Amino acid sequence: MTASILVTGGVGFVGSHFARMAHESGRRVVVLDDFSGGASAILPSGIAVVRGDIGDRALVRDLCKTHEVGAVAHFAGKIQVGESTIAPALYFDVNVVRTLEMLNALREAGVHNCLFSSTAAVYGEPTVVPILETAERAPVNPYGATKLAIEYALDAWCKAYGVRWAALRYFNASGAHPDGSLREGHQPETHLIPLVLDAALGTRGPITVFGEDYATPDGTCVRDYIHVQDLASAHLAALARLERGDVVGAVNLGTGHGYSVREVIDAAQRVVGRDVPHTIGARRAGDPPQLVADASRAFALFDWTPQRSALTTLVEDALRSRGARTVTCS
Ligand code: UFG
Repeated sequence: MTASILVTGGVGFVGSHFARMAHESGRRVVVLDDFSGGASAILPSGIAVVRGDIGDRALVRDLCKTHEVGAVAHFAGKIQVGESTIAPALYFDVNVVRTLEMLNALREAGVHNCLFSSTAAVYGEPTVVPILETAERAPVNPYGATKLAIEYALDAWCKAYGVRWAALRYFNASGAHPDGSLREGHQPETHLIPLVLDAALGTRGPITVFGEDYATPDGTCVRDYIHVQDLASAHLAALARLERGDVVGAVNLGTGHGYSVREVIDAAQRVVGRDVPHTIGARRAGDPPQLVADASRAFALFDWTPQRSALTTLVEDALRSRGARTVTCS
């Protein structure tokens, strides 16, 4: 029987979509999550969910043994860029110290395949866009630094202990499961698409556009939005490579196409059929003007292309997951 997959952070946004897709593809899945991210996802009943800490070495070892784990998909972690600058100790504790404890537990349990949730934040403020994996890594906040630290650890674990790894560097994870049953819900929410939709629905106040004086076509920041289902399918493809005995290393997960903040607002207005109340504010510290992936390595290595990452589809799926009807007007 195929070994099971330990999914840390499996009730969080990306982790829950991956856990469900892996389960639906016939894999056995066990989720380890401390439920610190707020609202927990409703996962299919065939997925075992264990509440606990990734830094609890004995627990991770036991789970690996009991569930015959052959691979980890490590999504658990702290993810707010702004918070990481005011609470770096928390970020280094969870994202580095506890993650290393988990990696040691996996080593003790003989688990050699590791998918790691990394980020475009490892690049900092890139000088060349689209960004290749080989671009300079120069994180400008503790969040990006902690993710890069684990990429270095995985490379060393690979050379010394034979761990096969893939660090998947997400650009702007967004969208939601098309059936509306899983959603993006961070506490607090700081991401553009959920904030824009909540503003349109009136469940939150107007959004502030952080700057419209950037050197971009309409003056607002450009980002590469990638649907969470596309992220999940790329993880499954990466896992197949690891299980075949390959070391994948770092791979960008994006579409190669960017949308501005204004384009996101316009798309939300069309999809919801209502205005998005917004004001123009100052730039947010640390926001690069453009972050767009060169995702050609992922396309070639995984024989994968994004299927649901067109902006309208992303916004429609995100809206449906918020319990609202889409009316998309042209
Ligand atoms: N934005 C606004 N107003 C808001 C929120 C966001 O104008 O209220 C703008 C931001 O300035 C940015 C864009 O919308 O230009 C997207 O912002 P998000 O906060 O949704 O996402 P970020 O691009 O800041 O960050 C995301 C992830 C990080 C990751 C980074 C790497 O949230 O975890 O991408 O690309 F590190």
